[in-house]
Amino acid sequence: SDATEKPPLVLLIAAPRGFCAGVDRAIEIVERALEKYGAPVYVRHEIVHNRYVVDALREKGAVFVEELDEVPDGAPVVFSAHGVPKSVPAEADRREMLYVDATCPLVSKVHRQAERQIEKDRHIIFIGHAGHPEVIGTMGQVDEGQMTLVETVDDVAKLDFTAGTPLAYLTQTTLSVDDTADVIAALERRFPDISGPKAEDICYATSNRQAAVKKIAPGSDLVLVIGAPNSSNSLRLVEVAERLGTDAHLIQRASDIDPQWLEGVGTLGLTAGASAPELLVREVVDKLGEWRTVEETTIMAAEEKMVFKLPRQLLD
Ligand code: F3S
Repeated sequence: SDATEKPPLVLLIAAPRGFCAGVDRAIEIVERALEKYGAPVYVRHEIVHNRYVVDALREKGAVFVEELDEVPDGAPVVFSAHGVPKSVPAEADRREMLYVDATCPLVSKVHRQAERQIEKDRHIIFIGHAGHPEVIGTMGQVDEGQMTLVETVDDVAKLDFTAGTPLAYLTQTTLSVDDTADVIAALERRFPDISGPKAEDICYATSNRQAAVKKIAPGSDLVLVIGAPNSSNSLRLVEVAERLGTDAHLIQRASDIDPQWLEGVGTLGLTAGASAPELLVREVVDKLGEWRTVEETTIMAAEEKMVFKLPRQLLD
């Protein structure tokens, strides 16, 4: 054969991957707000954790800020998909601002559960990652001192409640399914009367993407996950692959791929976090094609048909 022929690469592409219904909706909310109100539309926090998405919306006239005090009076503002503490809409109301809430409905569902548990006089133990905007938003649904954050089984061992304290737990939507099961089991061992959500708070998109990585990782020499370093669900996908004994790297774009990673790799797994557009997946496949003869196969773990309604204020 010809000396310039590229060596073969079997590419296993996970499905589902990439955008979830909450991310789709959040992006559409910003786009529709731009159409309806005109630029600039302010967005509090990165609408979703993806630089490509943020840059594209900025180009169309979105202005990203961290806090409401950076938004001038009279300008429309969108709250990100991760959700916001109650103090944020309260402040927006006080300033009579025009705001659109892009909080994912599955995050809002956890917010309402938090309220309900507090009404029942239970103290809430929230399983999540400190500092993530979703965690800040959910903890900000209740008064200070009503919710305690735990990240690990070790944190559960350190909890100190007087006997008989009524407890409930809730979780962040983008956690590792397996780690969370361990933390919940530890909570139930220590506090047998603790109440939990009826259905899991980890969202369908997070669990489906993890299930798909579990299918591709065992047969892959390396797994690449397209996602941002501050994207919780993307980081979890890297961990899922690594836990199955397969090396994995988080990349933001095709240009992040170090060609040396591919040395000795015959089968490569590829997926994308819930905030990463499909266009970036195609970009990676094209890049791989520059070095190797790619034979692409999609490995399906679940079908997704979830679509969320837009806020009414954007529908007319
Ligand atoms: Fe919502 Fe889950 Fe996506 S909580 S924003 S559907 S990752």
